[in-house]
Amino acid sequence: MFHRGYTLQTTKNLTIAALVAALSLAAQAPAPPAGGRGGGRGAVAPPARPAAYPERPPVAQAVLDRGRAIYGVNCNFCHGSDARGGEGGPNLLRSELVLNDKRGELIGKVILNGQGEMPAIKLTPDQIGDVADYIHSFKVGGYDVSRMVPLSIVVGDPKVGEQTFAKMCGSCHSVTGDLKGIASKITDPKALQNGWLMPGNAGGRGGRGGPSPFNVPPTTVTVTVAGKATTGRLVRIDDFIVTLADENGAQKTFRRDGEVPKVEINDPMKAHKELLSKYTDADIHNITSYLVTIQ
Ligand code: HEC
Ligand code: HEC
Repeated sequence: MFHRGYTLQTTKNLTIAALVAALSLAAQAPAPPAGGRGGGRGAVAPPARPAAYPERPPVAQAVLDRGRAIYGVNCNFCHGSDARGGEGGPNLLRSELVLNDKRGELIGKVILNGQGEMPAIKLTPDQIGDVADYIHSFKVGGYDVSRMVPLSIVVGDPKVGEQTFAKMCGSCHSVTGDLKGIASKITDPKALQNGWLMPGNAGGRGGRGGPSPFNVPPTTVTVTVAGKATTGRLVRIDDFIVTLADENGAQKTFRRDGEVPKVEINDPMKAHKELLSKYTDADIHNITSYLVTIQ
């Protein structure tokens, strides 16, 4: 029913396209009369397909043309011209989210908010509907069997990843030491990738994906007042105060005035935060593809 609400929202600027969409959504209602789908366009019996491929009502060519244009500019780059991924974005045709989407109500959330490495993209509700219709128009029946692999972000080169790891990570980590067996501890490649990119924040941007699989020590701070040093977990710091907590959770706040008192912050994730801006997309894919082999 969600998709109906969605359609209603667009009736403000009801265009022919929205009308067509509304009609095609109506045609998705349960148990359509035989041959009645798509407004009597001579329904040809579809070949038997797995249930995962929803049969969708036809969409006006004008909608598809607009959708193709939007896709070409905004999505092609990462998801490939056939939407089967491999250019940095996953295969959309094998995506459960896409399969469950009616006309952009699920895809639209990903577009507007971004997801993982996918940036948020500003599209209007009408544009989202059009690009969703376009993605849904791909003939999944024409899929290439060789590409029917599970949805994967493991698209890098593990050999190159091994070298990149040695250069960028080897000074602090080792796959025979602290990261031994990392892929058997975290079997989901997405969680593994979010985990190594920003340990302690496995959910990635937006906190998706639940708690971190790693126990990253908290950021601590040492405040030195008149020669006396107090160290604790950093709770809060700004130009005027610094608050820390001792191991019992008791908090202590110090006033700050320029360089007084002396404040030293120890953020265990400092190196990782600095590294974030240094990775290329290829580095990220290659390192993840290497780490998933560390069983
Ligand atoms: C810069 C590359 C990039 C661009 C541009 C991009 N995507 Fe993505 N997209 C990704 C990546 C990477 C993911 C996987 C994110 C994750 O879950 O970690 C993704 C995920 C998705 C998903 C979710 C798939 C799922 O099963 O969770 C959808 C839907 C999607 N993209 C649609 C689009 C559409 C539509 C556009 C254009 C309007 C677009 N993307 C543009 C990279 C991109
Ligand atoms: C300058 C040191 C440094 C560099 C370089 C560095 N890390 Fe880390 N990394 C840390 C610290 C500190 C932690 C916090 C947990 C700990 O103390 O082990 C950590 C945590 C991790 C964790 C969580 C596992 C754990 O031990 O808790 C992973 C996975 C990880 N890093 C992967 C990488 C990868 C992959 C690279 C290279 C792209 C990298 N790190 C580069 C210092 C570093």
